[in-house]
Amino acid sequence: MPDKLSFQDIEAAIAGLLAAFRRDFRPIEQLVSNANGPDLILRMKDAAGKDFIVLAEVKTQLKSLEQLKTQYVGKKSELSNLKRSIGLVADQDKARSGQAIQELENIISQPLRYAEVSFNDLISQLEEARETIDVTLPGRRPRRGHRHPITLLRERIEDIFVALGYAIEDGRELETDFYNFTALNIPDNHPARGTQDTFYTTDGFALRSQTSTVQIHAMQRRGVPVRMIAPGRVFRRDTPDPTHNPMFFQVEGLCVDRGITMAHLKGTVGEFLRRMFGPDTVTRFRPSYFPFTEPSAEFDFSCFKCKGSGCRICKNSGWIELGGSGMVHPNVLRIVGVDPQEYSGFAFGLGIDRMASLMYNLDDIRLLFENDVRFLEQFE
Ligand code: FA5
Repeated sequence: MPDKLSFQDIEAAIAGLLAAFRRDFRPIEQLVSNANGPDLILRMKDAAGKDFIVLAEVKTQLKSLEQLKTQYVGKKSELSNLKRSIGLVADQDKARSGQAIQELENIISQPLRYAEVSFNDLISQLEEARETIDVTLPGRRPRRGHRHPITLLRERIEDIFVALGYAIEDGRELETDFYNFTALNIPDNHPARGTQDTFYTTDGFALRSQTSTVQIHAMQRRGVPVRMIAPGRVFRRDTPDPTHNPMFFQVEGLCVDRGITMAHLKGTVGEFLRRMFGPDTVTRFRPSYFPFTEPSAEFDFSCFKCKGSGCRICKNSGWIELGGSGMVHPNVLRIVGVDPQEYSGFAFGLGIDRMASLMYNLDDIRLLFENDVRFLEQFE
């Protein structure tokens, strides 16, 4: 440092300092006091409470402002050095140098103070806005789930059968060979036993391929007479397509008592379908074959949409195929210790998924298990 400083030296130092300050302060100045400033602050205030990032941003700006303050007016700042250097100024220049330095201090500290007050004010307004709770606003309703369309349909079916005096039986999804095949009179060489139809575990258990397995459990557990339905999941090695899934739902029905005939079967299935699809619904039975029923029949009902005249849903036939049925085979009764001379019974089974796809007019049964909420929400 030179021994003596002139007023020009001081003036030059002041000019350098002022230029540096103006450059460094410009971003903050723009935020606080230029034409966009108030608008920006207003926008920040609007966003307050909705977006805490705005508050964090203002706090960051306040921090840079504090750094600027330390740099330009702090104890170790150049301004302080300049003030200290006044002792070195020639006597005749001292007064105006001091005045110029004082002016510089004002020029620097005033906008810094203004910016500080503005930021602090803004921060407290933002914080207040964030904490304010408007008790008059409606609450935010949590998103609620609802039952799956298959469950809705299953419950409707259960309600109808409970009203007809049927119990609801729960079955197992994993079965032994005995329950899945042998007890259902499915001979050893029957194709359904093959791996192309049934899923097996590595331990040799079968994922049940039909709810008919519950007939056996129900008769063993409850004895006869028995009247039950068993809704549940079944599995088949079917390739997925618009009408097939490898996992789907069936409902099994079983009624065993003295003197039960095919007429009871027809009456029960007919009544169920009338309660399900309306009093005008007509049911028809077609001869069929199932190893565990004799005689066996498949049943159809008159289309609920066109009432039998033919439409897209029933593929213009007027009828919708629903499931299989028949009189419980004497071998099945015998295997659970029921005397077929004394007791007889009927059984039926239908697929819930296909019924759901008909009722809800779905083009593809696979939609039911894709778990797309946009699809599922329609059934609320
Ligand atoms: C049976 O499963 C017999 N247990 C029904 C029965 C019970 C007959 C009691 C006699 C006495 P079937 O294989 O036809 O029958 O299947 C019944 C229903 O399941 C079909 O009508 C259909 O609605 C449904 N179904 C069959 N395979 C699939 C599949 N891959 N995807 C979706 N639904 C299916």
